[in-house]
Amino acid sequence: MHYHPPILLWALYGLYMTSIPSLLLVGCGKMGGALLERWKQSAIAAQFDIIDPTHAQKNESNVHWHTSLDAIPATCSPSVVVLAVKPQQLAQLLPAYKIRFAKNPPLYISVAAGKTLSFYAAQLGEHAHVVRAMPNTPALVAQGMSVLCAASTLPASSRKIATDLLKSVGKCEWIDDEAKMDAVTAISGCGPAYVFLFIDSLVKAGVAMGLAEPLAKTLALQTISGSIELAAQSTRSLEQLRIDVASPGGATQAALDVLMKNGGLISLIRDAAEAAENRSQELSSDE
Ligand SMILES: NC(=O)c1ccc[n+]([C@@H]2O[C@H](COP(=O)([O-])OP(=O)(O)OC[C@H]3O[C@@H](n4cnc5c(N)ncnc54)[C@H](OP(=O)(O)O)[C@@H]3O)[C@@H](O)[C@H]2O)c1
Repeated sequence: MHYHPPILLWALYGLYMTSIPSLLLVGCGKMGGALLERWKQSAIAAQFDIIDPTHAQKNESNVHWHTSLDAIPATCSPSVVVLAVKPQQLAQLLPAYKIRFAKNPPLYISVAAGKTLSFYAAQLGEHAHVVRAMPNTPALVAQGMSVLCAASTLPASSRKIATDLLKSVGKCEWIDDEAKMDAVTAISGCGPAYVFLFIDSLVKAGVAMGLAEPLAKTLALQTISGSIELAAQSTRSLEQLRIDVASPGGATQAALDVLMKNGGLISLIRDAAEAAENRSQELSSDE
């Protein structure tokens, strides 16, 4: 018997990957939009419905845009509902979803910062299947970092669906201690913003020293991605890798003396991450 290897591989992949009949995305802004883009490309669901009052795009054969829950057809019964609206909107919005999907309750995956599993249980019912997820925007280029948590009673099949969805946009980890989600938010959820600020600062410094902006951007991006690759592949510690660049009395050491003076960048980043963690905690106490 002859078979075509790629077809066989694809069939095996299909067996391994969860097949989601239909996914409803609620809120298609920066985060929801990044997830949707990758999910559409990897065809992880057979059918996508999206609710967003302002960001509607052209319908495709398996992608349908709606402006509100009331506007979706009565026949729409998603197996997964992904909540990607602002955290402050959820309390007002969820009761209608609970009623609408009462007959065939979906798996809810929420990416909202700060909203706890007990909040979702109060809004959607104690028995609702809910995953709390914290992804980040590099999901758009399949390099996201997502951390998930759920009640211990969540069925393994739902866990697998959530894992497959988030793995399709990058790396994915589960944590048992939900209290750590605020720290996760502060590090990987908000983290891309810190990194973009750092890259931009490096570009601006290059431009201030007379480099053309495109060249300064190339230098900054390649230096950062090269350093990330080196850090990921090397057995040396981050501290040692830094020391490897800086000969005593040299140019790098002159820069590090500025960056590390009185705690410098290390304490600045810690303060920044703590501010994000506190804000994430405040969002959950608004419940
Ligand atoms: N951005 C990130 O890097 C990031 C990372 C991790 C997690 N998150 C979480 O992701 C969620 C969304 O954040 P975001 O940055 O993507 O915000 P965003 O860009 O403002 O996206 C939210 C989207 O929801 C739409 N919307 C408002 N009311 C709605 C409703 N009733 N039904 C359906 N859609 C509605 C908004 O439309 P309008 O613009 O018209 O209001 C907007 O398009 C937040 O809970 C946030 O904590 C974000």
